[in-house]
Amino acid sequence: MGIASITHDTKWLQVTFTDGETSEYYVQWLRDNIPSGRHQDRGQRTFDINSLPQQSLSEVIHAGDQITITFDPDHYTDVFTTSWLYSHRNTISSQTNPTRTLWDATQQEKIFFADYQTLKNSKKDLHSLLCHVRDYGYGLLENVPTEPATVLEVVKMFGYIRNTNYGKLFEVRAEPDPANLAFTKLGIGMHTDNPYRDPVPGLQILHCLINESDGGESQLVDGFAVAEKICKKHPEVFSLLSTQPVRFRYLDEGSADLEATSPLIETNPQGEVIALRYNSRSAQTFTFSSEVMADYYDAYRLLGELLHEPEARIEFRLDAGQLMIFDNQRVLHGRSSYEEGFRHLQGCYADKDSLQSLIRVLEAEK
Ligand code: FE2
Repeated sequence: MGIASITHDTKWLQVTFTDGETSEYYVQWLRDNIPSGRHQDRGQRTFDINSLPQQSLSEVIHAGDQITITFDPDHYTDVFTTSWLYSHRNTISSQTNPTRTLWDATQQEKIFFADYQTLKNSKKDLHSLLCHVRDYGYGLLENVPTEPATVLEVVKMFGYIRNTNYGKLFEVRAEPDPANLAFTKLGIGMHTDNPYRDPVPGLQILHCLINESDGGESQLVDGFAVAEKICKKHPEVFSLLSTQPVRFRYLDEGSADLEATSPLIETNPQGEVIALRYNSRSAQTFTFSSEVMADYYDAYRLLGELLHEPEARIEFRLDAGQLMIFDNQRVLHGRSSYEEGFRHLQGCYADKDSLQSLIRVLEAEK
């Protein structure tokens, strides 16, 4: 990208690029981001802007694909490339994940299981699975060996296991004296796991070892798509769900009493939905004022209805040797009931940022 024109005063540099785009750069920002101010390999800033006096632009010289800038009062000079300035235009959207793709039941036709054995030997295939998890909030694998604890090996491919009060690994199977609905044959409504933890585990991985059941279909729903729908169609409901705090708790007497409080829909300062917590089993008694309570229950019921609409979810049978990874802060999971047959899954949690880190590392290798 070339430069069509440049103007500046003592505080602002304005650059118009040859594609017609114009961007403005503030003098303190430019000095804070001088190319020589970063560690060559690790990219860490090697100084603190607060150690310098207030800056002003003294001279700007454009030659070829470089802009040489001199700052006062220390008369310091550094060289910025055109391409760096173009990729740091102040008009670029600050959206968290521009490739995020919301989905509903039509995603059913696009369900595919990536081959684990191929993935183990192909960085390209691993990269596409990780990108699918990042952008759609879930990914599916098949041909995963059914030896117990293999799920921990799968996680090692892209990140770090998140140990919890359930241990590194947890079992999902019908048990005679169940402490949790997951350990029964009953259907389980859509939910996120561990809303009572802070931070909530980012990724959940479930690996099927045995499935001889006559039901027990796995269900996933894109909570971000549902939140977006509510935001567009029922802004007052979205406002309640994203501002009123709800307390979640998990009590296992003598060993755990975990609590966390958060709105069911969490947004960042830009208003983007960044997380959902939804789990009626661990939600505690609401403590809203009389002005809020009735409206909140309407909002809560609407959220629950939309999360459980068949039009919102995908549904598939997870057979032995198959595995699903999903973003526990975005994609809610559930299960249909079953009557007969043994079904045994092993699961674990993992950090989401290490998956995103590996995507960047693999992209830098290309
Ligand atoms: Fe769960």
